[in-house]
Amino acid sequence: MLSIPHDIITAKDFGKNFKWGVAIAAAQNEGATDVDGKGKSIWDSFTKNGSKIKGAAKLTTACDFYHRYKDDLLLVKALGFSLFRFSISWARILPDGTGKINKEGINFYHRVIDECLKLGLIPYVTLYHWDLPQELENKGGWTNYFINKWFSRFVTICAEAYGSKVKHWIILNEPFGFTTLGYMLGKHAPGKKGLGNFLPAIHHAALAQAEGGRIIRRLVEQAHIGTTFSCSQVIPYSDKKEDLAAANRIDILMNRLFIEPALGKGYPVDDSFKFLEKLQLHNKTWKYTERLHFDFDFIGLQYYFPVVVKHNSYIPIIQATEVKATVRKMPVTAMGWEINADSFYRTIKKIWLYGGVKEILITENGAAFKDELKNGIIDDRARINYFNQHLQAMLKAKKEGVNIKGYFAWTLMDNFEWSEGYHPRFGLVHVDLKTQLRTIKNSGYWWRDFLQ
Ligand code: BGC
Repeated sequence: MLSIPHDIITAKDFGKNFKWGVAIAAAQNEGATDVDGKGKSIWDSFTKNGSKIKGAAKLTTACDFYHRYKDDLLLVKALGFSLFRFSISWARILPDGTGKINKEGINFYHRVIDECLKLGLIPYVTLYHWDLPQELENKGGWTNYFINKWFSRFVTICAEAYGSKVKHWIILNEPFGFTTLGYMLGKHAPGKKGLGNFLPAIHHAALAQAEGGRIIRRLVEQAHIGTTFSCSQVIPYSDKKEDLAAANRIDILMNRLFIEPALGKGYPVDDSFKFLEKLQLHNKTWKYTERLHFDFDFIGLQYYFPVVVKHNSYIPIIQATEVKATVRKMPVTAMGWEINADSFYRTIKKIWLYGGVKEILITENGAAFKDELKNGIIDDRARINYFNQHLQAMLKAKKEGVNIKGYFAWTLMDNFEWSEGYHPRFGLVHVDLKTQLRTIKNSGYWWRDFLQ
């Protein structure tokens, strides 16, 4: 085992009340997609014929967390984390999304939660991490107004089943991510495209986010409730007026679209960005503003990279294009995402400066690199550097008064990276997908030392 010195900071610098965790998600890790009564999710369908996913990757086995959760939770413990974030597969609980409850699904998460508690790990449960039951998608999924009813029932079932043991709840994982990639660009499940799908999906996700919060508040005593947003600093390519305006439009979409309604400010409708006004049609006199608002106990900020954008009139609606980090010759991860910890710092400050945010948890941050397993060792220094730099950025924001209470590394082990398949490896633990053998990477040991 290797010990890597932490030249600059240690966990102690964050104070003894700061909490450290690691995050995973059901579809990316569980496997066992048709075991014990689980229904199909949109990701099971989307991966079915292999054409939409790199390497024709399937979810069938993934990291087999469904069967190996005990060993995997031991790893979480061994690495020194005290929080464990995971999501509940809706289709495991309600195979067709609404009807009959699947007892075996309910019991699986009881086992995971009980094991966490036995090991002294605090469970953070995400209610929706992108794996909608296929049966609901057949009825329009997030574009159907009834999704709010369906989601409310699912949340109610989870709250009633686990509420006495789980106090920390995350309603949605990155609504901008799943509505854009799944209902506008067609790159993620369910593969839908266009504004006709995107706009209603946005509105229904924003409603579900707030309503989910209200249900947990009502049903779970002493609940600590949050929801997560993907956040990126949006940097204009130049000082030209048109690039500044393009950056503003992308900022509205990527950073403001969901947090503002959640904070009670309504949708970020801007004169320069007419198409979002269509959201107003759904709520003419802002009658929904109140329903979109929920008094979240914490905001889950998820940060990976900044984006640089410039004006491009050939691109419909947004009239902007990203100037990729590789083109700008910036350091990148295996996803081609720019490594920029300063941008993380600025993003945290920006969210804090909104006002109305009581507490920030970094619910995801991490990086994929081309790891090499040599003689049983993965010397992933690039990932260690990534964490080191980003933790320093977070410490700076914390010292300047931002109420950040905790941090979750993404992710425990190499897993299914959505349309990118299994190729990008984000884990602190390497997974041999043929044998399911786990090998702690040096970044995992680095965390263990850091947290000691
Ligand atoms: C998602 C994760 C994903 C990670 C890296 C986040 O947007 O919540 O599921 O694996 O980014 O792409």
